[in-house]
Amino acid sequence: MSKIIADHVVVEVRYPVNDSFIITLRSPVDIPDILPGNFAEIQIENTTGVFLRRPFSILDVDYESRMISFFIKIIGKGTKKLGEAKRGDKVSLIYPLGNSFSLPEPGKKVLIVGGGSGIAPFVLLGRNLKSNNNDVTFLIGGKSKKDVLVSSLFSGFGKVLTTTEDGSAGEKGFVTGHSLFKSGNIHFDKIYSCGPEPMMKAIGKIANRNGIDCEVSLENMMACGFGACLCCVTETIEGNKRVCKEGPVFNVNYLKWRI
Ligand SMILES: Cc1cc2nc3c(=O)[nH]c(=O)nc-3n(C[C@H](O)[C@H](O)[C@H](O)COP(=O)(O)OP(=O)(O)OC[C@H]3O[C@@H](n4cnc5c(N)ncnc54)[C@H](O)[C@@H]3O)c2cc1C
Ligand code: FES
Repeated sequence: MSKIIADHVVVEVRYPVNDSFIITLRSPVDIPDILPGNFAEIQIENTTGVFLRRPFSILDVDYESRMISFFIKIIGKGTKKLGEAKRGDKVSLIYPLGNSFSLPEPGKKVLIVGGGSGIAPFVLLGRNLKSNNNDVTFLIGGKSKKDVLVSSLFSGFGKVLTTTEDGSAGEKGFVTGHSLFKSGNIHFDKIYSCGPEPMMKAIGKIANRNGIDCEVSLENMMACGFGACLCCVTETIEGNKRVCKEGPVFNVNYLKWRI
């Protein structure tokens, strides 16, 4: 798969939620094919003392206008600085990195469960599943109403359900408590999930209990982002694997998670 390593021009930084933003950048060259689950390593301006690139899932891409976008939650110095970028600024990107989600056969029913910034890979996945004629349900969880505003990104690709911990939107509680998971309601052929690790483990457990194939996208901390430093490894049934190279997408049963 060919990769881009280039300065991209910031076109827009939009804040749909206080602590999270969508940044759109224009590539100087044609964008290679991006698969759902691929990520980019973004260099944050190093006056901040942030030397290592930071990994972010690719939210969306427009090949014709050479635009690429990311949904980013402010966590520390790097994400804060990136969120302050202005139109016209240049940001260095390397992508596409990592593997991708696998698609089920056409016609199969799928459930996509996302929480926090873990919703990012699901726009591309939702679009591909729709083209593949899959029946898609999204379940998006957050602390309160503002955290699930981004669920509107998915409405063109399937049914969208939400949960909030304070009950301000959708069902009250965690995604795993949604009535969708009440026994007898789980009629899916495949489940995808990305978000906080405890959430993905709980979703993996539900999938296993119901004999449903399940893929998760891990967000382990990374340094090099291309397989050289081994700092991102996760334990699997075949030994340690690099999340940046063999992942970030893994089948839950391949991971040595105690779920
Ligand atoms: C493959 C992949 C895809 C990702 N996609 C997205 C995305 O689409 N949107 C998004 O907002 N974030 C995403 N992340 C997480 C993102 O990379 C981190 O939030 C970011 O690197 C934090 O950088 P920072 O400089 O702001 O924080 P730092 O100053 O580096 O860290 C601040 C605090 O957060 C902790 N931290 C940093 N990174 C992580 C992490 N990955 N997991 C747990 N704790 C961490 C640090 O230990 C520290 O306590 C992804 C991560 C991976 C590996
Ligand atoms: S981040 Fe260096 S090997 Fe994965």
